[in-house]
Amino acid sequence: MRDTASPSLPFIDLQAQRRRISGLIDQGIARVLDHGAFVTGPEVIELETALAARASATHCLGCSSGTDALMIPLMADDVGEGDAVFVPSFTFTSSAEVPALLGAHPVFVDVDPDTFNMDVDSLGLAVAAAKAAGLRPKVVMTVDLFGQPADYDRILPLAKDEGMWVLDDAAQSFGATYKGAPIGGFGRVTATSFYPSKPLSCYGDGGAVLADDTDFIERMKRVRVHGNGGGNGEVSRLGLTARLDTIQAAVLLAKLTIFDEECDLRNEVAARYSEGLSNVVKTPQIIDGATSVWAQYTVTSPARGAIAETLATEGIPTALFYPNPVHTHAPYKKYLLNNSGLPVTEDLARQVISLPMHPYLDAESQDRVIAAVRSAVGA
Ligand SMILES: Cc1ncc(COP(=O)(O)O)c(C=O)c1O
Repeated sequence: MRDTASPSLPFIDLQAQRRRISGLIDQGIARVLDHGAFVTGPEVIELETALAARASATHCLGCSSGTDALMIPLMADDVGEGDAVFVPSFTFTSSAEVPALLGAHPVFVDVDPDTFNMDVDSLGLAVAAAKAAGLRPKVVMTVDLFGQPADYDRILPLAKDEGMWVLDDAAQSFGATYKGAPIGGFGRVTATSFYPSKPLSCYGDGGAVLADDTDFIERMKRVRVHGNGGGNGEVSRLGLTARLDTIQAAVLLAKLTIFDEECDLRNEVAARYSEGLSNVVKTPQIIDGATSVWAQYTVTSPARGAIAETLATEGIPTALFYPNPVHTHAPYKKYLLNNSGLPVTEDLARQVISLPMHPYLDAESQDRVIAAVRSAVGA
């Protein structure tokens, strides 16, 4: 039975954040309501400049979601039929959905059991399988899962050797670093999401692309607005309605003022979890030279069912990211090229469980989570 003296914990506490900066957010929204430039208003430009600087990228374009931030660069490069886009299956569906929507072939790659990110040896095998199937290797979509960067020093040379470019799906990792540099410059394009549960989030849907290549940014700008460009109404290509709303940009500008501090707090929470849990479950490993923004704190355990049940009884929410890898869903089964499957992905899907994670998780609440996990595994 649940101990009713212990209140339910939130999985992510956006209200704690709001209590800190509600004045700033409300003033920002009010300014937009007053000036009335709801689409591509001054806050969007200000945000794009701030995000580009934060990520050491030359350009940033705000857009309507993390999914559109993946769609825009692939459309801008005319990725389509016959093209292979290499993507982990242990990710949110969007990563594979976007190439599939464009008629390209998402080629699934296995992940590393310690970091949950793309395994480079598996990428090599996937490239060989794609070529044998008559596909053109075109793009590697790295996904920086749960907030930590993929292993770019190993992935970038392989991509280059095969004539592919890298699209970094940084939906969960904006703010993380790799070998001292911020996420934003490892791929030709970096795409991020501001969905409310993301480390840097807005109050609805939103996203951004970051890139250094000015010509490519110009093409992506056109895709973002129906293929329009040049200010004369000329439509040069097919495009989308994929802009970021000005109100969401105002929310993001307010949240950016405390984002660095929130990243530090997330790291403190993660360190405390790892200290309390590393001898009873497999705790997440961060690769050498990288930092994570801890979009999720995900442990691996054969006792995942017992952990979920015990924590639910104690009023502690958990989440499963991802119990069904993308290649097992109906629309994606046909894309699997490798008949031996994706063993690490399938194993992780059975064993991972994510614990409450946000910057405002206090030590007392965290101790409750740690104690409940330990009791679930009989420690
Ligand atoms: C890895 C990954 N890629 C892409 C997306 C898509 O972002 P959005 O929900 O903003 O479209 C998400 C969002 O959950 C994600 O986690």
